[in-house]
Amino acid sequence: MTVPSPSPLAYVPFVSVQNMMRLVHSIGIEAFIQELAGYIEEDFRRWSEFDKTPRVASHSRDGVIELMPTADAENYGFKYVNGHPKNMREGYQTVTAFGVLSSVANGYPILLSEMTVLTALRTAATSALMATYLAPEGSRVMAMIGNGAQCEFQALAFRALLGINTLRLYDLDPEATGKARRNLEGQGFEVVTCASGEEAVEGAQIITTCTADKQYATILTDNMVGSGVHINAIGGDCPGKTELHRDILLRSDIFVEYPEQTRIEGEIQQLDPDHPVTELWRVLRGEAQGRVDTRQVTLFDSVGFAIEDFSALRYVHARVRGTPYAEPLDMLADPDDPRDLFGMLERARG
Ligand SMILES: NC(=O)c1ccc[n+]([C@@H]2O[C@H](COP(=O)([O-])OP(=O)(O)OC[C@H]3O[C@@H](n4cnc5c(N)ncnc54)[C@H](O)[C@@H]3O)[C@@H](O)[C@H]2O)c1
Repeated sequence: MTVPSPSPLAYVPFVSVQNMMRLVHSIGIEAFIQELAGYIEEDFRRWSEFDKTPRVASHSRDGVIELMPTADAENYGFKYVNGHPKNMREGYQTVTAFGVLSSVANGYPILLSEMTVLTALRTAATSALMATYLAPEGSRVMAMIGNGAQCEFQALAFRALLGINTLRLYDLDPEATGKARRNLEGQGFEVVTCASGEEAVEGAQIITTCTADKQYATILTDNMVGSGVHINAIGGDCPGKTELHRDILLRSDIFVEYPEQTRIEGEIQQLDPDHPVTELWRVLRGEAQGRVDTRQVTLFDSVGFAIEDFSALRYVHARVRGTPYAEPLDMLADPDDPRDLFGMLERARG
C-alpha cells in the first residue's frame, strides 16, 4: 500500500520532551525562566485582551484531569494536565502535560508541545515573578516544603529573579529531600535539610509550599509564619486540596491569578466567597500595590492559570524557530481539494 506523502500544510511543529530539554539547555535554565517570566508579565499586563474561564476539571477518586484554554485575537492555546498525588508512589509523575497553540485566523495548530517540563518552568517563573513584588527586600533564604518534581525549578527561578541563595528543605519523605539536596547543591545553592516544617521556616524570608496530597493538609500552621514573610503556596490547587491553615489566610494579604478559578481551587476555598484578594495582573500593571510594609504577610495563592501556559507556548514557539528542536508532525489532514477528504482517504488505499 502506498499512502501519498503529507503536504506541507499537514505538518505541525512538535516539541518532544527530549527537544524541550535540549532547548532549555541551549538557552540555560535560569535564562529560560527569566525570559519566560517576561512573556508571562507581558501577557498578564494585557489581561483584558484574553478570553478567560476557570479550567475545565474532571475529578476522580485519585486525581484530576484538566483542560486549560485561553485565547487573544491572534492565538488560541490550551493545556491538558493531570494531578494525581498517588502517582509518585507507583513510579508515575504527579503532573504531566502537553499543549497546543493555534492560529485564531484559520484554527490551524502552529505548535504542539510537551508541557510537563514546561509546566514546572512556567509555574516557577510565575511564582518568582510575583515574589519580585511581594517578597521582603533583600530576601536570600527560602524554605521549601515539598521536595518533589517542582522543587528545584522553584529554587532556580527564585535565584534568577530574586537572588535567593540559601534553601531550607523539608519533605515527609527524606528520599525526596536527599534528591533535591543533591540537585540543588550541584547548582551552587547553600542547602540546609530540616527535620520538620517548623525547622525549615526558621530564618526564611520566603516560604514555598509545594506538597502533593489529596486532602485539606496543614503544611503550615499559624504559629509557623512570622511577620514580614512571603508565602508562595503552589500545592493547594484543587477542591479539597489545600496546604495552609485558615488562620494564616486571615492575616495575610492574598494575591491570586484569576479569582473565579482560585476561589474553587486555591487556599481561599477555605474563606468566604467575597474575602478580598488582589489580582496579579493589577499588580503587574501598577494598578494595585504588592508589598507595602515590612511586617506584612503576603501570600501568593498559586493554582496555575491558562494564560501562563499560553505565554509558555508563545515563548517556545518563538524560541524554537530556526532551531532543530521542533520536528514536523503529520497531524492535519490536507486533501488537494479541501472538500475531498474522502477522496484523500480512498487514494491511500493504494
Ligand atoms: N500552582 C501551580 O501552578 C502548580 C503547578 C504544578 C504543580 N502544582 C502542584 O504542586 C504540588 C507539587 O507537585 P510535584 O509535581 O512537585 O509533586 P510530587 O509528587 O513530585 O512532590 C510532592 C512532594 O510533597 C511531599 N509531601 C506530601 N505531603 C507532605 C507533607 N504533609 N509535608 C511535607 N511534604 C509532603 C511528597 O513526599 C513529595 O515529595 C502538587 O500538589 C501539584 O498539584 C501546582
